[in-house]
Amino acid sequence: MGRKPIIAGNWKMNNTIEESLELVGAVKKQSVDTYKVEVIVAPPFTAIRHVFDELGETSIQVAGQNLFWEDSGAFTGEVSARMLKQAGCKWVIIGHSERRQYFGETDVTVGKRLKAALMAELKAIMCVGETLEEREAGRAFDVLDTQVAGGLKGVEKSGLSKIAIAYEPVWAIGTGKTATSDQADEAHARIRGKLEALYGKEEAQAMRILYGGSVKPDNAKELLSRSNVDGALVGGASLKAGAFTAIISAGIDALAQ
Ligand code: 13P
Repeated sequence: MGRKPIIAGNWKMNNTIEESLELVGAVKKQSVDTYKVEVIVAPPFTAIRHVFDELGETSIQVAGQNLFWEDSGAFTGEVSARMLKQAGCKWVIIGHSERRQYFGETDVTVGKRLKAALMAELKAIMCVGETLEEREAGRAFDVLDTQVAGGLKGVEKSGLSKIAIAYEPVWAIGTGKTATSDQADEAHARIRGKLEALYGKEEAQAMRILYGGSVKPDNAKELLSRSNVDGALVGGASLKAGAFTAIISAGIDALAQ
């Protein structure tokens, strides 16, 4: 199959520099095997460089949680792709539902951020996902189609190898309510189908689609063993070194099946 899974920890607005160093130091110690899976941590902006330095020679990669599409200028409070890169990021998370919900992110602005990331040679995890209301109204798949097509608008085939998609149903984020592995697999298959319609089969098959929403050590293996689930974007459980490394191990175990 050949899609290398990604286990990414989105720390959200958690951890001072000191707390970040403690967490990443503990993750590092638990000898994470990144040969089989890619491991990414996304600290808050203030801790990125410190985390990058602490990770040193390990293959754990660092991501930003957002960026602004301009390169520099009078945009108070924003951070550019080039700044993230210089601080040590290889990746950036784009269009997280919390950005859509609280900070007015739309498919258009997601697309602009995504293209800015690619221009700066940053890889991106683009998040999509329906709300509970949309799911209950039977519109989940339409929402996924729209968000995937909207975010990727104007992205050429050649950019796809730098992008992973994260399916994060809004109703499963921070709620302890995980999508069942059937629900996740089905949504991922839909996303892959949309990618195929946009770019072709080969490209769609090569893309990694991560699941996010209350991923924990005890449900990770089940989710990650599904054929369309190529990794996890972990929130709460990524703030505990033991839980995060257990999810990485679950990813490796799921591969062996
Ligand atoms: P939780 O794992 O805390 O539900 O958060 C998921 C998420 O939003 C990751 O980006």
